[in-house]
Amino acid sequence: MKFGYFDDSRKEYVINTPRTPYPWINYLGNQGFFSLISNTAGGYSFYMDARLRRITRYRYNNVPLDMGGRYFYINDNGTIWNPGWSPVKTELDEYECRHGMGYTIIKGKKNGLQAEVTFFVPQNYDGEVQQVVLTNDSAEAKEFSLFSIAEWCLWDAQDDCTNFQRNFSTGRVEIEGSTIYHVTEYRDRRNHYAFYTVNDEIDGYDTDRDAFLGSIYNGWDNPETVKAGKASNSFADGWSPVASHYKKITLAPGESKTLIYILGYAENPQDKKFASEKPANLLTREAWVLNKEKAYAMIDKYNTPEKVAAGLAELKSTWDNLLSIFKVDTPDDKVNRMVNIWNQYQCMVTFNLSRSASYFESGIGRGMGFRDSNQDILGFVHQIPERARERLIDIASTQLSDGGCYHQYQPLTKKGNADIGGDFSDDPLWMILSVAAYIKETGDWSILDANVPFDDDPEGKHTMLEHLNVSFYHIVNNLGPHGLPLAMRADWNDCINLSCFSDTPGESFQTYTNPKFKAEGGYSKVAESVFVAALFTYTGPAYVGILEHLGKADEAAKAQAEIDKMKKNTMESAFDGDWFLRAYDANGEKMGSKECEEGKIFIEPQGFAVMSEIGKEEGADIKTLNSIDKYLNCEYGLVLNNPAFTKYYVQYGEISTYPGGYKENAGIFTHNNAWIICAEAYAGRGEKAFEYYSKIAPAFTEETSDIHKTEPYVYGQMIGGKDAKNFGQGKNSWLTGTAAWNMVAISQYILGVKPEFDGLRVDPSIPAAWDGFTATRQFRGDTYEITIKNPDHVNKGVKALTVDGVAVDGCIVPVCGDGKTHQVEVVLG
Ligand code: BGC
Ligand code: NOJ
Repeated sequence: MKFGYFDDSRKEYVINTPRTPYPWINYLGNQGFFSLISNTAGGYSFYMDARLRRITRYRYNNVPLDMGGRYFYINDNGTIWNPGWSPVKTELDEYECRHGMGYTIIKGKKNGLQAEVTFFVPQNYDGEVQQVVLTNDSAEAKEFSLFSIAEWCLWDAQDDCTNFQRNFSTGRVEIEGSTIYHVTEYRDRRNHYAFYTVNDEIDGYDTDRDAFLGSIYNGWDNPETVKAGKASNSFADGWSPVASHYKKITLAPGESKTLIYILGYAENPQDKKFASEKPANLLTREAWVLNKEKAYAMIDKYNTPEKVAAGLAELKSTWDNLLSIFKVDTPDDKVNRMVNIWNQYQCMVTFNLSRSASYFESGIGRGMGFRDSNQDILGFVHQIPERARERLIDIASTQLSDGGCYHQYQPLTKKGNADIGGDFSDDPLWMILSVAAYIKETGDWSILDANVPFDDDPEGKHTMLEHLNVSFYHIVNNLGPHGLPLAMRADWNDCINLSCFSDTPGESFQTYTNPKFKAEGGYSKVAESVFVAALFTYTGPAYVGILEHLGKADEAAKAQAEIDKMKKNTMESAFDGDWFLRAYDANGEKMGSKECEEGKIFIEPQGFAVMSEIGKEEGADIKTLNSIDKYLNCEYGLVLNNPAFTKYYVQYGEISTYPGGYKENAGIFTHNNAWIICAEAYAGRGEKAFEYYSKIAPAFTEETSDIHKTEPYVYGQMIGGKDAKNFGQGKNSWLTGTAAWNMVAISQYILGVKPEFDGLRVDPSIPAAWDGFTATRQFRGDTYEITIKNPDHVNKGVKALTVDGVAVDGCIVPVCGDGKTHQVEVVLG
């Protein structure tokens, strides 16, 4: 069952009922100001940091779900409705929501009155523009009232939902004309404020939430003021400040009216915080006056429909340009819409937000993840490489000089989060992968010389190359009894906590390690991660390639020897006959082995082991891939492990706390499905690669949206696995490493267009039925128009490759470097 459809020509998903199985959201903003917006206009806004600069309030885990956002209410002769249906939920005569690239258009119609609201955050602008177009489609004149509402968050979202003894007494506002200012704490230690304005005279306002609602016992579905058809002109003093504009409107038959609302954020320099004069029309109860110059300029920027149209056109052309860097035309429409539109769009969102703010991430739990952000770069780097470079330097600056990493950092402070700390064994390796991806994309080797401090030596002069070096040797210097990397607190799988042994409620699996490991430095010196071993052998060659390029042959050989040794150790101690083990636990027992009662096979190490060709000469790769198909494959994707854990294993930790089929306990974790898709493609099994891809790619789940539940245009972290009651049900949509990794899987492994240090590799691994496909790739200043022909209907194998008609050996297109368009023709066979 579907709840809408893809409109590829406009790059939109069109939702045609407000009753989606879950709120289906979009993100507005891609620089500093961000908003989340659902198909019924629920959501919230923040500046830079969803925890520390939250602008509007949102209640997670609320009943009903998704109550709170920016709402417009219409009272048309006693019929009260919202253009997006919620919160009042009056049945609409027509409803439509179009989620596009950085904008959302919600249209509702009731009794001949149509309201179309376009929401977007313009480029280089710290505010959300909301253009409301009201049209009287009836034969009679209409007189009605329109109310807007936004509820302010008191800046720190964590404090806002916990510290009521203080924050119920801090709220402050100023009102000037049609603009309501949120100046809570501004006088004291803050230099930022927010405002909500409309480009027309208003007939009233409310700034006190309870006055707007009319009673503390009313919800958003039942505001007294809207029912009364009249604002109460309340002035907030503490409690919960809001911003609501009230407007009386008369429309002749066929007549339209456009109103532009702006929800903005601005910061003032310390010495320019206050205005010297108090305008006559200013409503305030303070002796001081906010300096509003920045707000005035922002309001002026989008106060006419022409300016709004220009801002929207600029946003659209920004996205058209971003999406023209890599475009494909394959025989499969769903692949095309994922690659050309939605997967790339999601990669931008995950790059911007890491795992901080979604409908499953509260914005206060996590900042930017070290491993997460490094992986996000893999799917984003071709879009805006300069931003990737900046991000890499920010992330690397939170690393410690021994190669260890803070697991998370706050985007606003760019400082590692001390409460979660470090010692996640995989973290450093992702840095090698992402820096290499940046160089492969751009050819900008200078990043290696960039001055990047260590967190524990902020003033020291260090280079990015040093960061890669300590990352690589952090693994080499922390091996366990089998010569495999120590698992430490956790590896990629945060829920395999081999040093935790937690039996006390409330202990955080992510931060707690058992005191019995204290003397050993905090974690077991026995527990080893086969996943990190495989990730090391997969990423290590990039480090070696970098050293070779720099002419550091000795260092390169030394690093290569470590990789070879790791492969050997893995094959000797961690190949279980038909697949690779997952780990050795702190008791030295095998995890993820045939010998185990449950959790015999895990997905995580397998893909990287196959792509590192560990034991390939003995057929380990194909045996492993076949085992995955046999034990992990099911209707909706590949489960993480099998059989699911049915008991609590104190030596494994969080993974065994989930009911079977959910999350890391045998859920379909789409992120690491991508690693298997890559591995299948790498091994030349294009059929399997495509089968796995099409099981999880959102456009393919659209038809079963009632089962899948979350948005059919973006990946979620997880789909209920075969052991789950809710088999096939998506969760945790939007912010997941799946976005980047599936972009890599489809573009670099299946379609096979892959940047390398010395050129663009073109080596597809596709379904044999395909006659071929075409792709356009901008790469290091040139444009490559690539045509793949598959006359013999094979999965993989480049028989001939020409660039502008000239034959090239192998499958790497050399960098032409003349800024021109080049024709690449590849014949498979
Ligand atoms: C979740 C993981 C997540 C981690 C970090 C765990 O409980 O299952 O998916 O990465 O928490 O907060
Ligand atoms: C989600 C986290 O963001 C990521 O860092 C982790 O690798 C996976 N969950 C698996 O636990």
